[in-house]
Amino acid sequence: MAPLLIRSPRILLPDGEFLLGDILIQQGKIVQIAPEITPSGNHTIIDAEGLTLLPGVIDPQVHFREPGLEYKEDLFTASCACARGGVTSFLEMPNTRPLTITQAALDQKLELASQKCLVNYGFFIGATPENLPDLLTANPVCGIKIFMGSSHGALLVSQEKEIEPIFAKGDRLIAVHAEDQGRILQRRQEFKGISEPAIHSQIQDETAALNATKLALKLSQKYQRRLHILHLSTGIEAEFLRENKPSWVTTEVTPQHLLLNTETYEKIGTLAQMNPPLRSPDNNHILWRALLDGVIDFIATDHAPHTLEEKAKGYPSSPSGMPGVETSLPLMLTQAVAGKCTVSQVSSWMSNKPAEAYKIPNKGLIKPGYDADLVLVDLDNYRPVLREELQTKCGWSPFEGWSLTGWPVFTIVGGNIAYEKGKLNTQVRGKALQFSGNVQ
Ligand code: DOR
Repeated sequence: MAPLLIRSPRILLPDGEFLLGDILIQQGKIVQIAPEITPSGNHTIIDAEGLTLLPGVIDPQVHFREPGLEYKEDLFTASCACARGGVTSFLEMPNTRPLTITQAALDQKLELASQKCLVNYGFFIGATPENLPDLLTANPVCGIKIFMGSSHGALLVSQEKEIEPIFAKGDRLIAVHAEDQGRILQRRQEFKGISEPAIHSQIQDETAALNATKLALKLSQKYQRRLHILHLSTGIEAEFLRENKPSWVTTEVTPQHLLLNTETYEKIGTLAQMNPPLRSPDNNHILWRALLDGVIDFIATDHAPHTLEEKAKGYPSSPSGMPGVETSLPLMLTQAVAGKCTVSQVSSWMSNKPAEAYKIPNKGLIKPGYDADLVLVDLDNYRPVLREELQTKCGWSPFEGWSLTGWPVFTIVGGNIAYEKGKLNTQVRGKALQFSGNVQ
């Protein structure tokens, strides 16, 4: 592989400052960052004047559907969407078919990903009420996923007596989908017969989310166990965590919980349906504040594609979930350009903080010795989210028509150009992520 020289972008440095300079990449690693680098020999050169260079996004919660549900998405199409969106690494959830609840199922996914993924990949092992031995030994995994609610079949672990043994044994990170299944079931009965999609947010209400978050936190404190609370959706949870979050607990928020709310149902109906559900607009404000204050640690998309046909079935037959990897970075950078936060904060929430939380070595910063997973974005060019340009197999976005800036112009994975000005290089392959310190 010829060395790659990126000329004259604004480079985001680890201290949050920008340097107008050059960056040299060799053998997939960043080797030099300087105001000017003179090429010696045969270099591939990217003229990046006017563009901003950020670390590639690490999306720490996605559902990519392969194996088993490839009609919605597969590892190739999802990773194309990642490359277009500036996402150079992802952590994927276990609700595929077969469920990722054994070493064999994990090995199958790793093998598929090595063949099909343009970007780097890591996987969760899913908890069931019965697979504690697998949770202790499966390798490599970024963590254990517990669906406390909003799942069905073997992945649902909703009773405290089933959840507690998982916290009690081992020391691997536990990531929870925190919704109280008992309350959801009871409210489903209460609201039976109502087919307005907005009722979804009332059935799976804020209390259902808060109850489960409190239970997970209680168990994490009892066993001093590393806990990550996935897709925080409510202001009451954020305020609770502001007062009660120990140093070994992290949490995340999705762009949709920051930017969409219950009013979105009027515009896009069941396309707005997800778990945990969208909340009232006041929650958007509290979640933003918690993110800016550091109560919320980072951002994940919960990319969960379903076909338009499935979504058209009508509530409650329509499945929950929306795609996100292709739009998350421009959505957040558009917020930064509008003054809501800074570009450096966006990059910290989308690259550095997830790398730290999951102990992914040498990623998430632009620094000599680090992996050359990078994205060059254009902060001065607003373009709408267009359905025809989407790479996700599901073929829609809840943000269609939104005018965004900060779209990736180049996405670089391990020193290889995976995406360039609207074109994918489908020959590029990512690597399996390492989670150092995570091995039992
Ligand atoms: O809305 C959702 N859909 N939330 C999840 O956590 C799972 C996901 C899916 O897999 O469809």
